[in-house]
Amino acid sequence: MGVKLGILGLGTVGTGTVQLLQDAPGRHPLLQEIEIYRVGVRSLDKPRDVNLPSEVITADLESIVNDPEIDIIVEVMGGLEPARSLMLQALKNGKHVVTANKAAISRFGAEIFTTANQAGLYVMLEAAVGGGIPVIQPLKQALSVNRIHTVTGIINGTTNYILTRMQTEGSDFADVLADAQRLGYAEADPTADVDGLDAGDKIAILASLAFGGRIRLEDVYCEGIRQVSQTDIAYAEKLGFVIKLLAIATNRVSDTSELSVRVHPTFVPKVHPLASINGVYNAILVEGEPIGQVMFFGPGAGAGATASAVTSDILNLVAALKSNTAAPNPLLTCRHEDYSQIAPISHLVSRFYARFLTKDQSGVIGKLGTCFGNHCVSLESIVQTGFHGELAEIVVVTHDVREGDFRQALAEIQSLEAVDSIPSILRVL
Ligand code: NAP
Ligand code: HSE
Repeated sequence: MGVKLGILGLGTVGTGTVQLLQDAPGRHPLLQEIEIYRVGVRSLDKPRDVNLPSEVITADLESIVNDPEIDIIVEVMGGLEPARSLMLQALKNGKHVVTANKAAISRFGAEIFTTANQAGLYVMLEAAVGGGIPVIQPLKQALSVNRIHTVTGIINGTTNYILTRMQTEGSDFADVLADAQRLGYAEADPTADVDGLDAGDKIAILASLAFGGRIRLEDVYCEGIRQVSQTDIAYAEKLGFVIKLLAIATNRVSDTSELSVRVHPTFVPKVHPLASINGVYNAILVEGEPIGQVMFFGPGAGAGATASAVTSDILNLVAALKSNTAAPNPLLTCRHEDYSQIAPISHLVSRFYARFLTKDQSGVIGKLGTCFGNHCVSLESIVQTGFHGELAEIVVVTHDVREGDFRQALAEIQSLEAVDSIPSILRVL
């Protein structure tokens, strides 16, 4: 007997998934055992790029999650509500869930996974992070014997596209963002992408899997790319770096068992494996013992890529349903219940790049050096690089320092009569 799917959403991801499921020849034979039973949409009048009988499509999504015939609900509608309620209702009705919804999982994962585990059901989410890149299943399975210490990702395609074009063409942020929207990479409201929030949702999910503890989204520090200027990109280039929006989760926080989970634009050394990930591509570098480093690279968004990930989750569930074993496979579930402790960003130890505009007076560099020294901030380099009108431009790169100390030094510097402004502060990998 076939496995019946109820698909919630027939947009980019839903359409790609239906098209893939309907094109089974040459792919895994289990695909032939899947029946697209109901598909839920908002607007029944919209033209669709799929070949489905009209009676399969409905605007009544509750009727899908309550349909006793359906085995698996595929939630590809996005948003928080009603996606959350529909997934919970599906689980309460004994259905497994596949979702691409990082926003809902990063916020309501605890509730959704608790409900699933109590019912002995699976919630699969390969498409939620990295689009078509397999990274969720590798963290649950192939890498699960490792002690992972750091996950570092470029996991937002829109911002990587913007930064890549700013770097290669010398264009400004606002111009490239407008192009990204015109080309359909960025959302009409690009806030979640540009302000680092989408990457924050995704790194919370990866951190939870890598370190086996739940993550409170409000503990994830997120800083976006709006402030990255062409001047900083040029300095990065001169100093041997590229600027990337990195999402980082690490347990290497000095002398504590806390994690650091954060998203921010970062000076990445040109020789680092993530420095060459350009355009809308994503990559995730996982570091642990004994594996060392392993990097996943590929398309982070788009219909085909995301459909590949969604359908691989569906196949895993079809295989589980066919195996007929009552006990859930621990390599497919997310069972951790405790919350990880997250260190505040002020505890981060990192190198920093900062750019200052100051009056062109003698002794200014000395005053900056004194302020840094007052707060235990040791400098790798400090140079006056040129002029902005009447103002001198001074660029500083620090050694590893505690962020709290660095911020205190900046506050003291800001109060100096000779200092006009501090237009840029970026962390250095
Ligand atoms: P989309 O193109 O906007 O499609 C959303 C679909 O859901 C549409 O078919 C829409 O119906 C339906 N829908 C939304 N709200 C609904 C409601 N309240 N009631 C009924 N139907 C509703 O979105 P998408 O790009 O496919 O993204 C879907 C999910 O995948 C999101 O969680 C997203 O974050 C995630 N994701 C997307 C990508 C990507 O490349 N696009 C990559 C990774 C993950 P209508 O068609 O009638 O409007
Ligand atoms: N807006 C997301 C991005 C889509 O740009 O990466 C994929 O999650």
